[in-house]
Amino acid sequence: MKLSALLICIICSLLITASRAGDDTNNNNSSAPFAVDIPAYLLPIDGLDFDYYMKTCPGMEGIIANKVKELIAKDYTYGASLIRLYFHDCAVRGCDASILLDQPETSEKYAGPSKTLRGFEFINEIKAELEKQCPQTVSCADILSAVVRDATTAIGGPYWQVKYGRKDGRISRSEEAEAIPMGRESITDLIQYFQSMGLSPVDLVILLGAHTIGYSSCASIRYRLYNYQGPGNCDPTIDPQYTNFLTRYCQDPTKKVQLDPTTPTIFDSVYYQNIQKNMGLLEVEQKLFVDSRTAPLVKALANQPDLFYMQFRAAMVKLSKTLVLTKDEGEVRLNCSAVN
Ligand code: HEM
Ligand SMILES: *[C@@H]1O[C@H](CO)[C@@H](O)[C@H](O)[C@H]1NC(C)=O
Ligand SMILES: *[C@@H]1O[C@H](CO)[C@@H](O)[C@H](O)[C@H]1NC(C)=O
Ligand SMILES: *[C@@H]1O[C@H](CO)[C@@H](O)[C@H](O)[C@H]1NC(C)=O
Repeated sequence: MKLSALLICIICSLLITASRAGDDTNNNNSSAPFAVDIPAYLLPIDGLDFDYYMKTCPGMEGIIANKVKELIAKDYTYGASLIRLYFHDCAVRGCDASILLDQPETSEKYAGPSKTLRGFEFINEIKAELEKQCPQTVSCADILSAVVRDATTAIGGPYWQVKYGRKDGRISRSEEAEAIPMGRESITDLIQYFQSMGLSPVDLVILLGAHTIGYSSCASIRYRLYNYQGPGNCDPTIDPQYTNFLTRYCQDPTKKVQLDPTTPTIFDSVYYQNIQKNMGLLEVEQKLFVDSRTAPLVKALANQPDLFYMQFRAAMVKLSKTLVLTKDEGEVRLNCSAVN
């Protein structure tokens, strides 16, 4: 307990130092300590505002919240799928709804990592409704940002306020989405990938906590179960009982397996406890607990459900500001699947 309290202090002081450095707008010395790692997400983004649609589409948040509530009541599993959809949008060209563009074979939606994404039709449904209520006003990137917040809350996760004003991108390339991590990477690769998005290693460990809910296709993890680094082997780092279950369950690669094997539908920090027990479904999750850069965080989060809840909220707010387009940098699509 003492150790985790200490870790929290370390995390907090890092966050405080970070925000202080971010506020110091006069410091343009990029080689100063901390300033190097202080990404622009700590500064307000010109063009994003909580009140952005207050005059032009005041009902927007209500319409979206109701639709999301209906959807989750009908099919709870969409909660996780929408959160993942958002990560895949923000990871490529920022949160600009580029993942929603449907350009057969060439857009992000057609990349390997996008194969099991879901929720596209739902976003289009909301867009159609909003076009009726407030024509040509609400961007698809903002719709997705509100939907994901509401979906997170609807499945028992935190609530946060969303700043609006994102514009929709006009470019979507499948080859760029091929680089989205799928679980076989090293921790160094993931830290670098997140850094390129303006996100820290702390954000990485916390956002991966989204895997407290939802499913993976067996196809994504079968390499750990059959012929892992040699014929007939399975990944020896997986808990033996869990290995036994997985090897039987995932014989059919089209099956879906819960990312959190113990509390699969509850948005909680038990995900991190599973990792400590060698029950991380993805290989990279298992490495989180071994790597010295991430293990202390896993430990702290495993025992602090409230910390996970609060930090997840903060990290999602950061994610929602990744490389956003504002003002005339993008457009308000009329159809989320196609550029105007
Ligand atoms: C950074 C490294 C990450 C890796 C390697 C990773 C990998 C994966 C993989 C392999 C799947 C299963 C895909 C399939 O086979 O269907 C998955 C699902 C999922 N991921 Fe991640 N992910 C990462 C980050 C994130 C982040 C940052 C979020 C959100 C904040 C997220 C949210 C989800 C959710 C909610 C699911 C379940 C989707 C569903 O049930 O439909 N992931 N992820
Ligand atoms: C940034 O640094 C340069 C010198 O390298 C200095 O002339 C300039 O005033 C600095 N800008 C700010 C905003 O501090
Ligand atoms: C920038 O910061 C580094 C490290 O603190 C320092 O050594 C260097 O002199 C600074 N450069 C300028 C132009 O202030
Ligand atoms: C939206 O665009 C997609 C892709 O071009 C198209 O298939 C679909 O019919 C469009 N929907 C509407 C309502 O126009």
